[in-house]
Amino acid sequence: MTDREPFKLVPRDRQGSNSSLRYELSLLLRVREAFLVAIERGVEMKLEQRKDLLGLREMSREEIELILDTAIPMKDILKRDIKKVPTLRGKAMVTVFYENSTRTRTSFEIAGKYLSADTVNLAVSTSSVAKGESLRDTIKTIEVMGFDLMVIRHSMSGTAHYVARNTKMRVINAGDGANEHPTQALLDMFSIKEKKGSLENLKVAIVGDILHSRVARSNIYGLSKYGCEIRVVGPATLMPPEIEKLGVKRYHSLDRALEGVDVVNVLRIQKERQSTGLFPSLDEYANLYMLSSERLLRAKEDVMVLHPGPMNRGVEISSELADSATAVINEQVTNGVAVRMALLYLMMGGSKDEITN
Ligand code: CP
Repeated sequence: MTDREPFKLVPRDRQGSNSSLRYELSLLLRVREAFLVAIERGVEMKLEQRKDLLGLREMSREEIELILDTAIPMKDILKRDIKKVPTLRGKAMVTVFYENSTRTRTSFEIAGKYLSADTVNLAVSTSSVAKGESLRDTIKTIEVMGFDLMVIRHSMSGTAHYVARNTKMRVINAGDGANEHPTQALLDMFSIKEKKGSLENLKVAIVGDILHSRVARSNIYGLSKYGCEIRVVGPATLMPPEIEKLGVKRYHSLDRALEGVDVVNVLRIQKERQSTGLFPSLDEYANLYMLSSERLLRAKEDVMVLHPGPMNRGVEISSELADSATAVINEQVTNGVAVRMALLYLMMGGSKDEITN
């Protein structure tokens, strides 16, 4: 026996056409609202003029706000049975990842598909890169196939900037060495704003391998624009010299750094980027810096915990905390799709005139 409504089958053509049109309209209206608010604030629509998204350092707070506001109606699309709107029909994007990825690559790909763009993933390890083709020739080859936008990840800092200078395609940086990972920081900020209601003046601790972390840098650039107090904490060997110049407070004691914070962003220990001897052992690291529910008692009662993934459970975060309601790790992944949909929409399809007229 069940008191649930019986499941009703709705003909596919009815599901697709009417509901898709309705949602497309409501999506446009809600994005229009975001644009109008931005215009009222006197924001220049720099995103329209901006060819590429390479980092948060160079972005204005208003541009960030527009992306976060646009991601709200995009997230609604993810809750629908039919997660598809025709907004980017006829546009083509390619993801080119010279480094491994699960979240970023897949979420860009599905974000493009949900907006009806044609999306292609270049599998770098089985591409002509393996035959020695240069980055420049690879980009040109992709460009002349007619793609509008490229999402690129590379182990060398500055690669996305180099690509952007050498192609007519729009370029999104999906992580360049230890420099920036702007879309990760945007989804982190969206997740924080969703839970806390505002990003203004929060106390945020970023814990772990700050030295190698592009996620840390993009979060620092983004959250600084909202007056947040940012504390970075980790072993001295994993802390860049002169990190204070970015306007953050440096800590080496996790317990002290956690006092009274609203948000903790736990970074992954990047085993693949560790030169030897930066810390004695993973056990030693875990003893000093692994975040657990017990340690978190020093933070505010409503503290939230983020982790960009993939996690090393039992190293930088306890398994029990990772699976608790305090950690929003799975929500971050969902929000990553919404934020990337917003970006693709703003960069490939959503002109101000189309929306505001
Ligand atoms: N957070 C992040 O960039 O994850 P992936 O490496 O799986 O894309």
